[in-house]
Amino acid sequence: MTRSFEKVGVVGLGTMGAGIAEVFARAGLGVTGVEADPAALERGRGHLEGSTGRALAKGRLTEAERAEILGRVTFTTSLEDLADADLVIEAIPEVMDFKRALFTDLDRICKPSAVLATNTSSLSVTEIAATTARPGQVVGMHFFNPAPVMKLVEVIHTVTTEDGLAEEVAALARRLGKTPVSVGDRAGFVVNRLLLTYLNHAAVLLENGLAARDDIDAAMKLGVGLPMGPFTLLDLIGLDTSYEVLCVLFQESRDRRHAPAPILRELVTAGLLGRKTGGGFHREEEPGGPPPT
Ligand code: 3HC
Repeated sequence: MTRSFEKVGVVGLGTMGAGIAEVFARAGLGVTGVEADPAALERGRGHLEGSTGRALAKGRLTEAERAEILGRVTFTTSLEDLADADLVIEAIPEVMDFKRALFTDLDRICKPSAVLATNTSSLSVTEIAATTARPGQVVGMHFFNPAPVMKLVEVIHTVTTEDGLAEEVAALARRLGKTPVSVGDRAGFVVNRLLLTYLNHAAVLLENGLAARDDIDAAMKLGVGLPMGPFTLLDLIGLDTSYEVLCVLFQESRDRRHAPAPILRELVTAGLLGRKTGGGFHREEEPGGPPPT
């Protein structure tokens, strides 16, 4: 059966969820964005308005196009509003118990043909799928930050994913202007498995005093041609997310390269999570510090 994906739901409108909602709305799909409470919902709406507002200011969107994109997104605090969605993508915090509880609810609420996707950075898609009565219709659809800009989507299939579904989701990713890659269900998939190992190593080198933060950033940016050095990128991804991904990688691999650097844990404990809190490895008040997202 070939599905048509026209109405999508996005649960969780933090940095990633709001970016994903924007990507779907830009591609002409109707989006229902769900958040747990009205304050979080307003922050999600603010993300979308801010991001499309910046595109308008740069002349990348007209006022009419922006209005059309925003008009395709409905905001709600009720999961029940996802009853007629063709696809729901989850972008809530990386806590397995939260994800399992959410997928149990989505399985009850969503129509039987709906596909349920998770944007998890590293958790087991198989375990999430197993909480539902439709594990064949559960996949990973992993976007990258900032979602409106980054071209990749990892499409994660499990041993229970029904034949053909990963290809249909990959076709949807292409419709969104993204390039899909097909990946099996192992912690961190391809990108985070490789990327977080490198980012963690950069934090270890900083702690060991090999070089200063800005010198490590400059070295990797200018010496390797990366768009951002590791500490700027860690601040963009979020130190909490980075820490959580490393914990999952370490739990699966027991490889000490995945053991989170103590400095990372310390910053997370202090609530210095990166750009989203105005400070992480870089602080907003520093000259040349990161702009708020
Ligand atoms: N939301 C929407 N659009 C954004 C944005 C955001 N947060 N940040 C930047 N952009 C847009 C800008 O508006 C601009 O668009 P335009 O070309 O139409 O004018 C374009 O991106 C380029 O932005 P800038 O000129 O301001 O800045 P840069 O050229 O430095 O690009 C960057 C910014 C795209 C973030 C670039 O530095 C980059 O690619 N960095 C690496 C990001 C990366 O590696 N992400 C993956 C992280 S891993 C991950 O997400 C997985 C997760 O599971 C942890």
